[in-house]
Amino acid sequence: MTVGVLYQSGFGNEFVSEAVPGALPLGQNAPQKHPLGLYTEQLSGTPFTAPRSQNRRTWTYRIRPSVTHQPYEEIPSRLIRSGPFTEIPTPPNQLRWDPLPIPEEPTDFVDGIVTLGGNGDPAMQTGVAIHLYAANRSMNDRFFYSADGESLVVPQLGTLRLHTELGILETAPGEICVIPRGIKFRVELIDGQARGYLCENYGQTFRLPDLGPIGANGLANARDFQAPTAAFENLDGEFHITAKFLGRLWTAQIDHSPLDVVAWHGNYAPYKYDLARFNCINTVSFDHPDPSIYTVLSSPSAIPGTANCDFAIFPPRWLVAEHSFRPPWFHRNFMNEFMGLIVGAYDAKAEGFLPGGASLHNCMAGHGPDAETFERASSAELKPQYLDNTLAFMFETQLVVRPTEFAMHTRILQHEYFECWQGLRKHFQAEVSPNGRPKPSGEKLKFTTR
Ligand SMILES: [Fe+2]
Repeated sequence: MTVGVLYQSGFGNEFVSEAVPGALPLGQNAPQKHPLGLYTEQLSGTPFTAPRSQNRRTWTYRIRPSVTHQPYEEIPSRLIRSGPFTEIPTPPNQLRWDPLPIPEEPTDFVDGIVTLGGNGDPAMQTGVAIHLYAANRSMNDRFFYSADGESLVVPQLGTLRLHTELGILETAPGEICVIPRGIKFRVELIDGQARGYLCENYGQTFRLPDLGPIGANGLANARDFQAPTAAFENLDGEFHITAKFLGRLWTAQIDHSPLDVVAWHGNYAPYKYDLARFNCINTVSFDHPDPSIYTVLSSPSAIPGTANCDFAIFPPRWLVAEHSFRPPWFHRNFMNEFMGLIVGAYDAKAEGFLPGGASLHNCMAGHGPDAETFERASSAELKPQYLDNTLAFMFETQLVVRPTEFAMHTRILQHEYFECWQGLRKHFQAEVSPNGRPKPSGEKLKFTTR
């Protein structure tokens, strides 16, 4: 827990919080006259009639209702793109990018968002947009919300202090936070600069995956999620709200801070989670389990078992599999895999996949360990090994992630990515060697690195 910022514990709980005693009405949601003169406003994150287990709404008690702003006018979207992603044809190639440079011009969190790709359509409330962000300036007089989806923020560099309508969250690399659809916030950069990943989920809200035979505990435990406590700004002045609505950015003037919620109760709230709390489950016998075992959060689609988006992580962990190829195997997938790296190195890629970088392996694109990793893991001594100093993650999504024009033409695109597999040579031999394994050919391994 960050010193100085108070949180409430639990995933999707019925939270209650008041920053001033008496600000939260008891026993009813909408008293005829609020004792402190606050306005009552409900924020619905799901239809009124959503099943109770999925229903999300929060009652806010605020200095002014959200309707008090000037009309919105469209502003340039810079490098933000939204579904439908039809700028350019989507190649079936494996794609990989270097980290986004920290900007040299003053750039806040919103201006620093660059879209790499996505799928679906916010108008259809399905799919995701996958953005990177790189910023060097805090948002002071500017607030942002997305009506297009909830925002899963994965910092890679620099701590973010998110001032939201429902309170403050601090999120450092190694942690994540989720800002629900519609909730206004501004981002303060604690370290002066920040970089990371942003999954904008157009679909159903992220939830914890069912655990099935795992049982009642494990993976991300509900109590480790943290929601903010009420914290309000009673500020008059010149401010702007930037809204993302149907893929376009709009801005409106407002004569006060919209972060003026003095008390609230409900289960529709931002939350943060320390990925070090993830109870990682893996094999203790043999073979590499499917990466779904690493799912932290899941946004379901209408098809059972088919996620609009899963968020999975690959944290430090013990590798103990016997007589097995331990890194992720070669793979082609119905689902579409976008990966990022927060720190260290990923166990399937010895080089080229950098912290802050990203890769994309779309539907049926072959992928897997590079030549160097294959050779090393094929002959490694299989003693218990602690995989330290690593934290990779994946946004895995049902629909093909279509890159933006920026993604395909930026200089951070690694055009030579395919070369990392070209050193995978033929090992086949029709005769089994005396020790039960194919005979080494004696040829010197040839592979290419960046
Ligand atoms: Fe895969």
